[in-house]
Amino acid sequence: ASAQSIASDLLSWYDSHARVLPWRSPPGAPAPDPYRVWLSEVMLQQTTTAAVAPYFAEFTRRWPDVDALAAAPEEEVMAAWAGLGYYSRARNLIAAARAVSAHGAFPDSEAGLRELPGVGAYIAAAVAAIAFNRRAVVVDANVERVVSRLFALSDPLPGVRKAIRVHTDAITPDVRSGDFAQAMMDLGATICTPRDPRCLLCPLADDCAARLQGDPAQYPVKPAK
Ligand code: ADE
Repeated sequence: ASAQSIASDLLSWYDSHARVLPWRSPPGAPAPDPYRVWLSEVMLQQTTTAAVAPYFAEFTRRWPDVDALAAAPEEEVMAAWAGLGYYSRARNLIAAARAVSAHGAFPDSEAGLRELPGVGAYIAAAVAAIAFNRRAVVVDANVERVVSRLFALSDPLPGVRKAIRVHTDAITPDVRSGDFAQAMMDLGATICTPRDPRCLLCPLADDCAARLQGDPAQYPVKPAK
C-alpha cells in the first residue's frame, strides 16, 4: 500500500485506540502544552509510562509551568526526581527549564529544541511533532520495531537504523504529525510487541512485509555476537 494509506490507516486506528496518558491530548485535539510534552519525554527516556505517571503528576502539581520549575531550588527538584534514576536527566531538566524561562518560550523547531540541555534527536523530534505539530521523523525503540517489521528490514541493529529513518520519513504524513508519532509508539507498545505480536489486531497487518513472510518477531535483527 502507499505511504499515505499506511499513515491514514494508522491514524484511524489511533482515533479509537490511543492510550490515555496524563501528558497527552486526545487524538485530533489541540496540541498539549510544550512544557508538559517536554517534561514527559525527558521522564520517559529510559523509564516506562507506568513508572513515570506519578512523577509527572507530582512535578506538574508543584511546578505547573516552566517558569515555576526554573525558579525551584535545585535540591527540591533533585529530591522530587529521586527514584526515577539517571540523575543527569534531572540536572539537565533544571538547566533546560532555566534556559527556556530566560528566553521566554520553548523553541518550536527541532533545531531550536536540540540546543536545550538533555534534548537529543529523539526528544527534539517528539516535542516538535507533539507540541508544535511540526512534521518530524520520530524514532524510538517502539518505532524501530514497527518499521523494521513493516518493511522486513533484514540488516542487523545498529546498522539498520539509517534505513529505519528513511522508511519512517517516507510514511510520516504532513498533517497530524504528533498523533502519527504517538500512534506508532502505541502500536509498538500494545500490538507490535517484541515477542508474540498481535497481528490479528494490527491496522497495518495487510501492509506488513514481515507478517507476510511469517515471522515478524525476528525483526529488528539483533547484532551478531
Ligand atoms: N514514550 C515516550 N514518549 C511517549 C509518548 N508520547 N507516548 C507514549 N509513549 C511514549
